This record gives sequence, structure tokens and C-alpha cells, in this order.
Amino acid sequence: MVLSRRTFSALAGTAALGLSLSGSGGDEARAAGRTPLAPTGPAPAPPTADGRTHTVGFDRYSMLIDGRRLVIWSGEVHPFRLPSPSLWRDVLQKLRAHGYNAISIYVAWNYHSPAPGQYDFTGVRDLDLFLRTAAETGLYVILRPGPYINAEVDAGGFPGWLTATPGVARTSDPAYLKHVDEWLTAVDRIAARHLYTDGGGTIVLYQLENEYDDHVTEPAGRDYMAHLYAKVRADGIDVPLFHNDKGRNGRWAPGTFDTDGERGRYLYGFDGYPSPFKTPPDWGYFGPGGMKGGSTASPDTPGFIPEFGGGWFDPWGGAEFDGLGYAESRRTRDAAYERRFYLTNLANGITVHNVYMTFGGTSWGWLPAPIVYTSYDYGAALDEARQPTEKLLPMHQIGQLLHSVPDLAKLDRAEPADGGTPEAGPGIKAYHLVNPDTKAHFHVLRNDAATESVASVPLAGTTVAVPVPGLDARLLASGIALGRRKLSYSTAQPMLWLTAGRQDIAVFTGRAGESTRTCLESASEPTVTVLDGDAGHSYGDGILRIDAVLDGVTRVRVEGGDVAAPLLLLFADDESSRLLWRYDTPSGPVLVRGPALLRTAALRGTTVQLTGDTVEAADLEVWGPRGMSELVWNHGTLKSRATTSGSLLAERPLAGVDRVRLPALADWRRAEGDPESAAGYDDSAWQVADRTSSYSITPVPAGQPVLFADDYGFHYGDVWYRGHFADAGGAESVSLSYVAGAQGLLMAWLDGEPLGTHRMPVPDKKTVRQGTWAATATFPVRPRDGHRHVLSVLVRRMQHDEDGRANDTHKAARGLTAVALAGAAPAVRWRVQGAAAPDPVRGPLNTGGLHGERRGWHLPGFEDGGWKACGFPRAERRQGVTWYRTGFRLAVDTGVDASIGLALTDDPARAYRVQIFLNGWNMGQYINDVGPQHTFVLPNGVLRTRGRNTLALAVLSDGTTPAGPGRVELTLLGSAAGGVPVAPVDSPGPTTAQHGS
Ligand code: GAL
Repeated sequence: MVLSRRTFSALAGTAALGLSLSGSGGDEARAAGRTPLAPTGPAPAPPTADGRTHTVGFDRYSMLIDGRRLVIWSGEVHPFRLPSPSLWRDVLQKLRAHGYNAISIYVAWNYHSPAPGQYDFTGVRDLDLFLRTAAETGLYVILRPGPYINAEVDAGGFPGWLTATPGVARTSDPAYLKHVDEWLTAVDRIAARHLYTDGGGTIVLYQLENEYDDHVTEPAGRDYMAHLYAKVRADGIDVPLFHNDKGRNGRWAPGTFDTDGERGRYLYGFDGYPSPFKTPPDWGYFGPGGMKGGSTASPDTPGFIPEFGGGWFDPWGGAEFDGLGYAESRRTRDAAYERRFYLTNLANGITVHNVYMTFGGTSWGWLPAPIVYTSYDYGAALDEARQPTEKLLPMHQIGQLLHSVPDLAKLDRAEPADGGTPEAGPGIKAYHLVNPDTKAHFHVLRNDAATESVASVPLAGTTVAVPVPGLDARLLASGIALGRRKLSYSTAQPMLWLTAGRQDIAVFTGRAGESTRTCLESASEPTVTVLDGDAGHSYGDGILRIDAVLDGVTRVRVEGGDVAAPLLLLFADDESSRLLWRYDTPSGPVLVRGPALLRTAALRGTTVQLTGDTVEAADLEVWGPRGMSELVWNHGTLKSRATTSGSLLAERPLAGVDRVRLPALADWRRAEGDPESAAGYDDSAWQVADRTSSYSITPVPAGQPVLFADDYGFHYGDVWYRGHFADAGGAESVSLSYVAGAQGLLMAWLDGEPLGTHRMPVPDKKTVRQGTWAATATFPVRPRDGHRHVLSVLVRRMQHDEDGRANDTHKAARGLTAVALAGAAPAVRWRVQGAAAPDPVRGPLNTGGLHGERRGWHLPGFEDGGWKACGFPRAERRQGVTWYRTGFRLAVDTGVDASIGLALTDDPARAYRVQIFLNGWNMGQYINDVGPQHTFVLPNGVLRTRGRNTLALAVLSDGTTPAGPGRVELTLLGSAAGGVPVAPVDSPGPTTAQHGS
């Protein structure tokens, strides 16, 4: 599809596009008829869906929102990895509070499309609600709807049904584009309502494709990108578009594909996941030139990293982190890693920065690509159980700084030309940057050695010695405004400034125990009062010097001198800065100290109304607009008093959270769930597997029918096969070839007797990427001649491969591929059965084709009264499927946000796996003898924290060892007083057809 010249001109004519490919921000603003930038003022209040027209533009330095520079400080979050819409608000509020001004989201096509032409954006799939919540929270959105996303999800986001269609995916093949257009129409219809350009929402950037690294020079690739561009524009998306380049190869930089005659009307972005054990790379503008340098591949667009490692993923068996799981990902990419790598990015001119992942969440149901297990915690800053980790702190400090100091959105390297000061100190890499308009200077000091080193830094005409801990980094500023005064320099990292009432407030931070010096310009001597803590000061040569050791919060008031208004300086060590929250209200900003989280702040008359969380008992202290005299916290009015710091302080601390008690799980009931294995099972209603051709990339074996599950419409979860034959006398063995993805397995029975189980080996770091996982399992057999026989085969086929190389690998077969009997050649007639019709609420990825899933055994309200009572731990040796069900009640106090998980543990030698269903929702897969995951997060909403829940476990046991479950228990993953209101997620019971079966 080609965008017509008329449409194109109409688009080009809108100021909304604001696409300027050269010139300064001032030029850009003038071109748009506005006054040039005033970069020293604080950034504007966070965005909302305000119904007004806005411009979203850019130049080589940064994004320009309504002509104002903005560093986009974003975190990646996947709505589809948190199946509880109420909790979206919780996660987004936590990110906003911690200084992020944007989020980036993939939209997974497979999650929304159970069948061609069917698109579901309701319930847990309500993209409109997600985007509304983001706008209400004040976050910009980077939207990334694929069509291909990768993201460690089934088929890289392609719907299961696409694996059984003609056309080469990720090319301009019309058979593929027909489906793509349908998807984009569906998703863009929602996206177009949430663009920041017309104030419908807060989307400011939109990604085409993802890591499209192949077919780059071929027409099939270029035409594909041009098609996506034109389609998205025709759908009314008028914010800047971009592509995410795998590596820094200059792929799809402006001008590399056609946009109806105009060149380069899109941004260049690249991603990177550098090893935390290596020196942080200089990607961006100031490192090595050329393609591999990053942004230098596109000199006229801002330094843009749509994905920079915030953690990393872990395969089945846990090979990536030596079996230690995501805790190890978080440990190796900790707060100091963030400072070293992300400050390096800023120092390289990266001004659109997205951390993948910031909240990883859960790849529930059959969502995970075979290369990962259920948890997608990722070692991210906010963990899978929505608990803040220490990794939020540097993001908080840097994010607040970017908001307060927009000078950071336009940086050039200062002299020397490479900005480096090699003599800075042993192990120290120093970057010296300057804003050419405001002349504010910034130094990023990074210590690549393991032990502390002292950097010599030229600051405001003098050389200052600044210690940098081993493998850490810090940012120093000089010449920035702190409200009405000017910072000469500080050896502490600035965090924020704001004006509250009469006074300006500025916060500086660093590691506890550090000695800091902060110098303010002042032509005449101001009055200095140390309000709290120890600080020394002196004045001379127009400079006020304040020396403070970081320990809690040291408070120093500076008054008079050049400026009448007081400046309150807060020197906060890391831990104290974590409890300082800025919130912009329409009446002005407030600064809150004390609680574990500030969610919202609003001013009503003289009352400041706050909502947030506490874990421990906490102070509540608030600075805000003049006249503020009353504090309300989570709807309760507090007695408070004015302090000498100009704040209001609650007279009594806020209470922490009460203990949360969880019940033991008991009263289990049990039923065997593999009737399909029995000789006499009636499979006459199953589909006959008699196709002879397939669109799969897996060849159909000569002389055999297609047995691939996808060709019969079974795209997710387990598949059963029954092969009927006679006259097989002389047969000695049967060989079953199957393709199943990492950790797939196959179980077989002949005439109801177990033949055995075959499992794919546990992957290691290398083999996990080999994809597909094909194997042949050979079992000895002795079928009697002259009899009819039935071979029953259950394949736990894991999900489809991703299609990272754009060569249709998502179309590799799943399920049986070929069957051969040695010693006989009977005609085998196959029937196949997989998942029933997709669950209309939980979606197509919720269930596979186990008997119990087809009959609703996993659902609440299923009548299990006839099942046998049993207890755990169990140790039963049996090949097949066994189901367990129980119910439990929770009574978590309202006003408490308890994050609860299900923990399974057992003797690791026992060969079994468990599919976990909570109120019918498939919360993931546990493999007892592979791991490493033992704890499964149960998201509130799906979990009724005040009411009754149903838990169902579908256990597949190999029959080679005794099988559990062993211990199965609820576990508390975190709790806070506060939280967000949580609406129950619809969890329907069995249909009439399933009832009683
Ligand atoms: C990137 C890709 C993402 C995700 C990530 C690893 O290369 O764009 O979708 O797969 O790697 O988690």
C-alpha cells in the first residue's frame, strides 16, 4: 500500500509531525512559530490526555514536545505479562514515582488474535484502558505493536494461526501483508485515540517492526518497511515513527526506505544488552564514528536506544545464571551497573532511553517462547511480584534530575574534542559535556576498576578531587539553575529542585558517608542556617561553599545575598533520597518525604491529599504551595505541624503494614486425566490427520500424513494423537519423531500400556537458541498379529520458535512429525486432538489439549465432588496426567496490597511437571527436575485476596521416578499498606458442555 501524495502532504502540513531533521531546538521552535526554548526552566508537568493539540518533534539532540526539549527516560512494561488491569495502575504509578517519564510497551499480536479476522481488546487485553491508565499516571508512551516483537513470547508475537498460512513473514509477501494490515488496523484504531498530538493520550513514539536485520538490502525488506510506514500513517498515527536496530548497524536509518518520495521521516533507534562484566560501551554520538557507533549512523536524529539491558532472561534449567535464577540477573545488573551504563549512555548523547525490562512480569499460560520459563522477572528494577528493588534508586535519582534540569537534553562534548580527560584518575573514564545554550557543564565519572579511585575534575575553574567507588559512576553538574540561584558546582550528584511556596528546594545525593562540597554563586554573602545534621560553610569570591557528609538528610537554608527567596538544600544519602518524592500538581509541585511510595498528590483548598504505601512506620513530611495547612494520607486526615524547613510534618508516624496471614493449602482432591491413553477410548469425534501438505518449514515425510498440530488448528499446549493399525506382527519397535521446543516431551502407550516418555534435554546457554528441538523416541513394541492396535501419544509441545532472523522459524512444526515401525509396515490411521475452542475470557493461550482442560477441570465451579481426597506430599509412580484441585479463602485487609505466590518444592530427582491454574487462569509451568523456577506469582485480581479461590494442578509424570506434588504452599512476596483498588478479573466456570464431564 502506498500513501497517496495528497494524504502525505496533508500529514506533512500538520505541525503535529514537527519533524525537523536539522537545526537547533530554537530553529525548530521558530519554524513552528513559537518562541525559542527556555531550557533553564523546569520541565513542564507530566503529560495527560488533555484534549489539546501538541507538537511532537525532534532534532539531533532530543525530542521536542511542544517545542521543549525532553529526555525520554522510559521503562519497558508489557501489559500482556500482567493479566490484571487494576495492577497496571500500580506498576505505572511506581515507575512515575521513581522518576520515569515514559513507558515503552510491546503489543503482542498473538495475545489479541485467536483467529484470522478476530481481535480481542477486552478484559485483560484492554489496550485502551492500559493507555488511559498511562495517561492518567502522567507517563508518555512508546508504542511497539510489531507486527513482529520477539520479546521471548510464542512465535515472537505472531499468532498461532499465522504459522499455518502461506506467505513469508516479515517481508512484502502480499499473503503476509494481508494479515499484517488487519492487525495494524485493529491496533491502530485504539492507538490513534491515544496520541499526544491531539491530546487523546500520551503516545509520542511508535515503532515499526523490531530488530529487522535481514532482507535489509532486498526489495522484499525495503518494500515491507515502506508498507508498514504507509499503513501506520494512513491509520492516522502522526507521531514520529522509528525502528529498533539489533546492534548498531544503521539498519533502517532515515532514508533507507521509501516514504512516498520523502526521505528520512522517521527516527533511528538501536538496542543493546552489553555484558555487565565489560566496560560500558560508547554508543551514541560521542563514541567511535560510523555505523557501529550507534547514533552516528543517523546524525540528524536524537540518540535513541529503544531497548537497553535492564536485566536479562533465563532459559529452562537456569543456565544463564548458574541455576540462581533472576536474583542473579538482578545482582549482576545492580544499581551500580545502572549508574555505570545508563550514565554512560547519557554522556554519549542518548536522550531517548528505554530500559528493557523495567517490570518484566509473567509469561503466563502458553505465552513464553520455548527459550524461557514462566517468570519474566528479568532481574528488572521492579520485580515480578511488583516489589520495588534497590535498582529503582538510581533511576529515581537520575529521572528526577532529568525532569528538573532540562539542560541535559542538549549536550555537546566539551573540550577536548572527545570530552575525555584521560588524566582524571586511575581506572576513571571521565566525560565532560556542555549545554551550548545555557553553558551548564556536566561530568560523568565512571570507575572501571574494582576499587575506589579519586577523579580530578575541572569544575567551575578549579580542579576538584571526587572519589568514585569501584565499578560505579556519578554525575556532577556545574552552572545549572537551582530555582532562583545558580549552582557553581557540587561534588554530590544533584537530584532535583523545585519551588514550594516561598522557597526553592534542591536535593543532592550520593552514597552514605561521602564528604561533599556544594558551591552556589552569590555576589553578596547569604545567611546560612543548618537546620538538621552537620554542615560547614564559608563564603568568599562570590561563592558560598557548603560542606556536608551524607548521612540521612542534612538540611541547610540559604537566605538573602543576591536572592531574597530562601533555598533549602537537602543533602540526602541514597537511602533517604529513596524516600523523597516529587509530584507535580496543577497548583505546583510538592515534595514528600517518608513513605515507601507516593502514588498521587492533589491540592484541595488548603489540604494536600496524598495516596501511597507504607511498609514500615514512616514519617510524612510535605513541602508544597503556600497556604497548605492540612495533610490527608490515604483518605485519613492527620494532625500536622509546620517545621522550620518550611514543611508540614505529620505529628505521628504513618503506620506500617500489618502482618498478612496465609492459609495452608489442604483438602486436595485427585483424578487421573489421561483417558486418551486407554485402548478403548472413543476418539471418533477427533479430527482425522490426513493432510498431505503444510505451510510449515518442517518437511512432511514422504508417504506419511501431516501430523503437525498447527495444521489441525491446535496452536497452544498439549496435543494427543491416536494411531490405529492392524496386522503389525513382526514389529519390534516404534520410532516417534517430534518437534517440541526446549523442554518439550512425548509420552506413548500401546493398547493402553505405557511405552515410556521421551524428553528434550535441558538446554544450556548455547543450545537454547538452536530452536525447534526435534528428536526421535524409539520404544520396543510387540504388537500381536491379527489384532487391532492403538498407539496413544501425548506431546507436550512447547511454544513456537521466534522468528528473529526473518526466515519463518515460527513455522517449524510442533507435535509429531513422523512415525515408523521397525519390522512391520501397517497402515496407520491417525486422529489428533488439541485445545478446545479458546476460552473467551482468558484467551487462546490459556489452555492446551489435556482431557481436563477440554472438560473444564481447571475452572472454578467445576464439580469435583466425585474426585478422591488426597494429601501432599505424594510419591506415585505413573506415566500420565493426574489432576489435583483444592480451594482456599483469603482475607487480606482492604487497604493492604499483599503480593502472593505459589511455591512448589520437592526432591529434585522426581521427574514431573505441573501446570498451575488459579481460578481457571494458567499461571505457568513448573518442572520439578529442571527448574529453576519454584515460585509462581499469583496476580491480585485473578487471585481473590478477599474471598474464595480455586487451585487446579495438572501434573504430567514421566513414570521413571515417583512423582509429587511435594510441598505446595502460598507464600508472601511483599506487602504494603496502601496499594490500588483491585477489581476481580472475570473468571468464568465451566460451560454447559463442560459441566458434569
Ligand atoms: C531484543 C529484542 C527483544 C527481546 C530482547 C531480549 O533483542 O528486541 O524483543 O527479545 O532482545 O530480552
